[in-house]
Amino acid sequence: MYSNFKNIKVKIYGASHADEIGVFLTGVPLGTDISRNEIDNLLDRRRSSKSVWSTSRGEADEPIFIKGIENGKVVSEEIHIAIKNKTAKKSDYDNLIKKPRPSHADYPAMVKDGDAFLSGGGRFSGRMTAPICIAGGIAKGLLEEHGIKIGAYIAEIGGISAVSYKNQDIRYEDIEKAHSKNLSILSDSDSEITEEIVRAKEEKDSLGGVIECIVYNMPVGVGDALYDGIEGRIAQSIFAIPAVKGIEFGAGFDISKMKGSKANDAYQYKDGNVVTLTNNNGGITGGMSNGMPITLRVAIKPTPSIGVLQNTVDLESKKNTTIEIKGRHDACIVPRAVPVVEAAVALAIYDCMLDNA
Ligand SMILES: Cc1cc2nc3c(=O)[nH]c(=O)nc-3n(C[C@H](O)[C@H](O)[C@H](O)COP(=O)(O)O)c2cc1C
Repeated sequence: MYSNFKNIKVKIYGASHADEIGVFLTGVPLGTDISRNEIDNLLDRRRSSKSVWSTSRGEADEPIFIKGIENGKVVSEEIHIAIKNKTAKKSDYDNLIKKPRPSHADYPAMVKDGDAFLSGGGRFSGRMTAPICIAGGIAKGLLEEHGIKIGAYIAEIGGISAVSYKNQDIRYEDIEKAHSKNLSILSDSDSEITEEIVRAKEEKDSLGGVIECIVYNMPVGVGDALYDGIEGRIAQSIFAIPAVKGIEFGAGFDISKMKGSKANDAYQYKDGNVVTLTNNNGGITGGMSNGMPITLRVAIKPTPSIGVLQNTVDLESKKNTTIEIKGRHDACIVPRAVPVVEAAVALAIYDCMLDNA
């Protein structure tokens, strides 16, 4: 599965229960320094934990540097990094092959691929986001060298809101601090949200939520008009993440309800720099960065695989039937998707930065 980035090319390969998954990345200039820190940080935060919301499938997700990086430097056109799947358990999915899980990729994938469809979500599985974290970790590290920092956090789970950029200014340090908590939220307490996830899990159900992401220190004028706009390029990268159903920038859909006089971000000089007094446009105007932080919100749907009895069809007998899903699934995907959102945004921003390189 290739990305449609303009300057870099990302190919994610493998499947949930294949021997390995991995990523090929091209377009990173030869001689570029690559730091493991950001790769390891994103993979660590994406890895399943002992937390109540997390799958019991515990994969080590150890990156194997096969080609393109030596002694921390890019040495060939193509970088190849793999991860071995060590705990694949196809039997969990045997009885699902002909009974598609509602809201998962099973039905269209089976019509498309027939018997070639692999269990555990195949190439549509959330596991495919580990290689996204590897490629995104490389991009994030390279952006840091330009002073550009990217941080994501949870703004809402199961309809319960936490601190959002829509209500208060958020510093990068606040986000970093949130990453050391159980749940990456900026509010003082996460007990209400945790209890809601516990309740959903006890009911064999699942919850969705909203992840916010902020890009700090963007230089002005990156991106361009129409298809070269930053919003479209970030959106395409974000929609590669399974379970994403929406994205909005700045005030997003709320801007449609404002009058121009409220929506417009008025300019002002501050310490010799042009800033805006509000940031309803989320740091992007005309498809270009305007110097304000880029702010965006990503809607994640509830985990499709749930134990609650649901209607589905038996594709063999061609009859209606029901399904109760067993196996190893996150009761809430949102916490593990936070680093994936950072990775996806980093890849898109790095690609935009290379326009002028
Ligand atoms: C980090 C992550 C973990 C996921 N884990 C699961 C899971 O355990 N069970 C499940 O049914 N879906 C899981 N998903 C979501 C499915 O992969 C996704 O809903 C499915 O492929 C259908 O794609 P769509 O939701 O984009 O339409 C996960 C997604 C992510 C990002």
